[in-house]
Amino acid sequence: MTATVIDGKETAKKIREELAIEAKALAEKGIIPGLTVILVGNDPASESYVKGKIKGCAEVGIHSELIRMEPTVTQEELLAEIEKLNQNPNVHGILVQLPLPKHIAESAVIDAISPEKDVDGFHPISVGNMLIGNETFLPCTPHGVIELIKRTGTEISGKHAVVVGRSNIVGKPVAMLLLQENATVTICHSRTPDLAAITKQADILVVAVGKAHMIGAEHVKPGTVVIDVGVNRIETGKLVGDVKFDEVKEIASHITPVPGGVGPMTITMLLKNTVRSAERGLE
Ligand code: GUN
Repeated sequence: MTATVIDGKETAKKIREELAIEAKALAEKGIIPGLTVILVGNDPASESYVKGKIKGCAEVGIHSELIRMEPTVTQEELLAEIEKLNQNPNVHGILVQLPLPKHIAESAVIDAISPEKDVDGFHPISVGNMLIGNETFLPCTPHGVIELIKRTGTEISGKHAVVVGRSNIVGKPVAMLLLQENATVTICHSRTPDLAAITKQADILVVAVGKAHMIGAEHVKPGTVVIDVGVNRIETGKLVGDVKFDEVKEIASHITPVPGGVGPMTITMLLKNTVRSAERGLE
């Protein structure tokens, strides 16, 4: 069996078209959704991610602002900027691009963003609300993963979902969202002995480790839905996922490519959170 390749780009495009309609309706009521991105320093990967976010905003009709700060900025200066944005009624979403320079505590920065504007879904209040199933801003990559699985027509309820990776940004939250959807969830990580014995039980396999090609055919049961969150640049300069795409696609039922799978969905979910935040202004 050859898997259906999940087209994240096409799915993202459809959702962005829906969001553009919502943003237009808001604009007609006098509310322009606004996202402010803070970029500290000039790390090339962060520059590229931020560029994608700003471009996405323009596509759906979100007003975006980019605040650039020197890598020598102090934590106090950064926190003061966040506080100004918290108070600004035209700003519906605040995103501080991570990672930050070593002298700034990421947790202090995440805590400083008002939960009302936490479109990344990283604030402890957002994370807590997600955990207990309250309505909140969901973290963008995990939310994108769930959307992609649902749009394959796969029923998540009752399935065994295995998540490889336990990061705060992807592994842990995606496991919680799968649980919320009534999957039976197993989380594997670097200390898991005999990884393949567990991943082979998966009906849905989500891999978010950041290690090129670590999952091969020997890890996958025929007919599994495989979602590859990894983005790794190998020596040739090529971007590859955590999954050996060519061999796993021969046994999976559905598989995401890298690039063009989860990546385009992450920014789209950020746009969705920003539009939702602006809509709250109507309530
Ligand atoms: N750096 C890498 N991914 C992300 C993300 O989703 N949000 C933020 N703020 N920084 C990141």
